[in-house]
Amino acid sequence: MATEMDLLYGFIIAVCTFFAVLVSALVVYFTIKYRRQRPEDVGADIHGSLALELTWTFIPFVLALVMFAWGASLFFRLATPPANAMEIFVVGKQWMWKVQHPDGVREINEMHVPINRPIRITLGSEDVLHDYSIPAFRVKMDAVPGRLTTLWFEATTPGEYHIFCAEYCGTKHSGMIGKVIAMTPQDYQAWLAGGRSTGTAAQNGERLFADLACNTCHKPDATGRGPSLHGLFGNTVELADGRKVVADDNYLRESIMNSQAKVVKGYQGIMPAFQGMVSEENLMQLIAYIRTLKPAQPAPDAAGK
Ligand code: CUA
Repeated sequence: MATEMDLLYGFIIAVCTFFAVLVSALVVYFTIKYRRQRPEDVGADIHGSLALELTWTFIPFVLALVMFAWGASLFFRLATPPANAMEIFVVGKQWMWKVQHPDGVREINEMHVPINRPIRITLGSEDVLHDYSIPAFRVKMDAVPGRLTTLWFEATTPGEYHIFCAEYCGTKHSGMIGKVIAMTPQDYQAWLAGGRSTGTAAQNGERLFADLACNTCHKPDATGRGPSLHGLFGNTVELADGRKVVADDNYLRESIMNSQAKVVKGYQGIMPAFQGMVSEENLMQLIAYIRTLKPAQPAPDAAGK
């Protein structure tokens, strides 16, 4: 999307430059043309012109609307990762970027990606505000403690591209840099094969789910002390206080870290909070696992939420 973004910037700069030059030149020209040439010269009153007023209101209005519509359409496309995007988890931490690929291979401060494939980054922070910025792709997104954010891009040319932290985050902020290595799909597969994987994010999440004893309360059916997580992701949940929320990444994150924040209707808030016990990387693995849980039976009845 970099080309389109540059075109929009070019358009805005061209419009601004045109009017800045036009107005400045006319100011100079009129100053000379209408200067006082004899002592008896006196200015004449001008009582305005409706046609002129309308013209110089209407033209900038249309230009501003073009910029707005163009910018908004680009923004929405940038904010909506394609459904077929490959997901990579990235965690910012003073002062490094930890990257986890779908099949479980991990790396630090480097991110290998295949070209011609949309990549969706799910971004978290272990400590303070960071910002994952890849200027060559014209994308950047804040890594916010306590929240998951996303950005996406599609690399088109193999090569190495800078990653910068674009949010001041402490002493070594300027050293929190890395690179994207865009490779052909074949090279990417070869690179993955050479990496050490400890299982996919979802498999690691499943292991954690058992290690943390989540599975003793969250059973596939509705018989557990906690609500079943099967078929939960992406659906609407009714809370004890009557609110309805969508079970997205951030809902799952909050419910693991601070289980009392949103208690599901019909259940008691007896789950311990895992804040401080689960790292951001583990959290992403747990979410990856919960996303894979399909509904236990085809049509759960209303009471079985
Ligand atoms: Cu991380 Cu600046």
